[in-house]
Amino acid sequence: MAPVNIVIVGAGAAGITIAHSLLQGVPNAKVLLVNPAQTFYWNIASPRIVAKPNAFKPEQYLLPIKDAFAQYSASAFEFVAGTATAINVSAKTVAVTLNGSGDSKDFSYDHLVIASGSTNLSATGAVTGTEIPFKPSNRDDVKQVVEAAQQQIANAKEIVIGGAGPVGVELAGELAESLGSKATITLISSADRVLPMLKPSGSAVGEKKLKEKKVKIITSTKVTGAEASADGTKSWTVTLDNGKKLVADVYIPTTGAIPNSSFIPAEFLDNNGWVKVNEELRVQSSSGSALPIYAVGDINTNNMRLSFKATEQAKIAMTNIKADILGKGERKSYDQGNSVMMVVPVGETGGTGQLFGMTPFNFLVKYVKGKDYLVSKAPQYLAGKA
Ligand SMILES: Cc1cc2nc3c(=O)[nH]c(=O)nc-3n(C[C@H](O)[C@H](O)[C@H](O)COP(=O)(O)OP(=O)(O)OC[C@H]3O[C@@H](n4cnc5c(N)ncnc54)[C@H](O)[C@@H]3O)c2cc1C
Ligand SMILES: *[C@@H]1O[C@H](CO)[C@@H](O)[C@H](O)[C@H]1NC(C)=O
Ligand SMILES: *[C@@H]1O[C@H](CO)[C@@H](O)[C@H](O)[C@H]1NC(C)=O
Ligand SMILES: *[C@@H]1O[C@H](CO)[C@@H](O)[C@H](O)[C@H]1NC(C)=O
Ligand SMILES: *[C@@H]1O[C@H](CO)[C@@H](O)[C@H](O)[C@H]1NC(C)=O
Repeated sequence: MAPVNIVIVGAGAAGITIAHSLLQGVPNAKVLLVNPAQTFYWNIASPRIVAKPNAFKPEQYLLPIKDAFAQYSASAFEFVAGTATAINVSAKTVAVTLNGSGDSKDFSYDHLVIASGSTNLSATGAVTGTEIPFKPSNRDDVKQVVEAAQQQIANAKEIVIGGAGPVGVELAGELAESLGSKATITLISSADRVLPMLKPSGSAVGEKKLKEKKVKIITSTKVTGAEASADGTKSWTVTLDNGKKLVADVYIPTTGAIPNSSFIPAEFLDNNGWVKVNEELRVQSSSGSALPIYAVGDINTNNMRLSFKATEQAKIAMTNIKADILGKGERKSYDQGNSVMMVVPVGETGGTGQLFGMTPFNFLVKYVKGKDYLVSKAPQYLAGKA
């Protein structure tokens, strides 16, 4: 059997997982993994990373991608540091701007996996000028971005967090613990409570823990704008929909995921830029023809954009790609379901969440996530053993 060229765009949770499972599951697979940074960023721990500079060493949350694939032969696996800029569907090529030379090179694929994920408003620094590294920067400089964010946060006296979802709540808890009375932390929720995706009892537990840590909570209020002060002091005026204004040294919006889809043909995207897939996670063309292209993880239209969902999707897509290649065998479908499974630490000792319909006890939150934000699991995850 001739080698089958599979190009994977993006080495986040989805791309890493599908690369390993294709290499292990498809005979003669030749996998080419494209990603702008050479390290995988354990972004799950970012609320603690930015708030507590000494909690982890950079090498715990920034792991070299190549090392995780050292077990495969060079004829089976290749890592390319670069950014995909276009897909030519009829020629079956992906154009990549190579890191280093800056040259553009076309790579041919028999099968293509789009795993370019999503980013966040804060991570791009688009609103506030400070990049808060909730996601990889899409450059090879996460370490510098982390250090700059840590420094800015450490010197802040007033921090305003817009959005009280899991990231906003986790961040508020970490900041309150690390800065203590040195800073005021204000958390703004557009809903009438924090963590509106949880049962009210789970929200109440979260709110109580935040208040114990002196986090100020403003509910039923939206941020309508954020403006840099004109005097160059680097402070921000955050305007709320009730007309009030807050002054902040650092303003961190934590809402809204942005798709990384600039290189993807428009016909594959929905109105918000997410890639349309069927239940087999196969990309849907406007003509309805079956393309050898799949999209996994945050980038597709399934809206539960979580790391463990990305892993699950990667395994399902791999099964279907394998069946495409072999022309036979099992096929699988993905259904994100509607049950909320979430563990939300509020600092190091406990937190809230929802597991099987119940609010987890403090010790469970601590054990599952709060103690180290799963950083100890990162090497295992990167090695495809999750
Ligand atoms: C602060 C925070 C905390 C979170 N905590 C949790 C948690 O506790 N549990 C959980 O399950 N989920 C959590 N999530 C969600 C989780 O981070 C995402 O669901 C997960 O990262 C999705 O993985 P992915 O591989 O689809 O995309 P991403 O992680 O976004 O990775 C995509 C990769 O593709 C690369 N890329 C993008 N464009 C291109 C291109 N054109 N060419 C080449 N490469 C490209 C990017 O640089 C990136 O490396 C959290 C998210 C945030 C923001
Ligand atoms: C895609 O490839 C085909 C065939 O090689 C070529 O004719 C076409 O111009 C390419 N399309 C784009 C948009 O580059
Ligand atoms: C490109 O790769 C080199 C190492 O080969 C690295 O030092 C550099 O930071 C990378 N640059 C970008 C923009 O990714
Ligand atoms: C960021 O994007 C994720 C998806 O990766 C989304 O679930 C979350 O709401 C966004 N959070 C932040 C911090 O903006
Ligand atoms: C991902 O999307 C963000 C926001 O649109 C953008 O700043 C970044 O350059 C994109 N990255 C890539 C690799 O396309």
